[in-house]
Amino acid sequence: MKALVFGSLNIDNVYTVDHFVKPGETLSSEELKFFCGGKGLNQAIALSRSGVETWQAGAVGKADGQMLIDCLDNAGVNTKLVEKKDMPSGHAIIQNNSSGENSIILFGGSNMSITKENVLKVMEHFEKGDFLILQNEINQMSFIMECAHKIGMKIVLNPSPINEKINELPLEYVSYFILNEIEGAVLSGIENDEEKIAQKLSEKYPDAQIVLTLGKNGSVYRCKDTVIKQPIYKVKAVDTTAAGDTFTGFFFGSIMKNVPIEEAMDIAAKASAIAVGRKGASPSIPSLEEVLNSSLSK
Ligand code: RIB
Repeated sequence: MKALVFGSLNIDNVYTVDHFVKPGETLSSEELKFFCGGKGLNQAIALSRSGVETWQAGAVGKADGQMLIDCLDNAGVNTKLVEKKDMPSGHAIIQNNSSGENSIILFGGSNMSITKENVLKVMEHFEKGDFLILQNEINQMSFIMECAHKIGMKIVLNPSPINEKINELPLEYVSYFILNEIEGAVLSGIENDEEKIAQKLSEKYPDAQIVLTLGKNGSVYRCKDTVIKQPIYKVKAVDTTAAGDTFTGFFFGSIMKNVPIEEAMDIAAKASAIAVGRKGASPSIPSLEEVLNSSLSK
């Protein structure tokens, strides 16, 4: 069984700042670092590190994208389906403040250049039962979902970053939604009540399993009437970038290995706590060994 992450690959330009820049303010940063990121790339690395065969599809720029491909290769992700295009790779401008929080501006670049031909070529390599993991940072999302559904792949949707176009997707094909409270509110129409959000999503998409991530309040799994709550592991926050992606990768890596849901939630929570304690997106993602041997407490 293979995991296909059809998603974004970004060069993250990370500025360390005391506070997020305000309107009209010019702020000097303490440090600038370049990391491999993008929700697609981060989730592919987390899936691969969790121990499942992982393929990345998407597009990078010919001139500046090799670092992204090298980063995936080093993490054991199959990159033969990543296209190289005559345009800049996607990038993110990230402010990382003294509390470890971030604020992100995205430039789609080559992530938004995917063609139907690219999608059809990718899909030839997958079969019924393989997992497709999608975020919301590339184009051709509907077509990718249609193709995956025809093949019989299990579709995982992390609708992040959320926008109104998400409702135009064939969401009835989704087997798993993994989303935060804001994304859950947009899809469910319910705000500030995580239990009701999970319940409503479960009613609206009765064939789907829902994982709601709630930051410091942990996460909740819901499928029909089954509800599982997972607290966070405590760690000093250094940089929250890619914590959600790490959770997603380790959760679905565990599910693909038939780990019971409770345990998969626990492994994902531990992996994402380790990522929160480290700087950068992909460099913060731990190995499975580190996760299983970690002595973090809840
Ligand atoms: O989820 C974190 C990621 O979001 C960053 O790596 C950045 O590239 C944006 O896509």
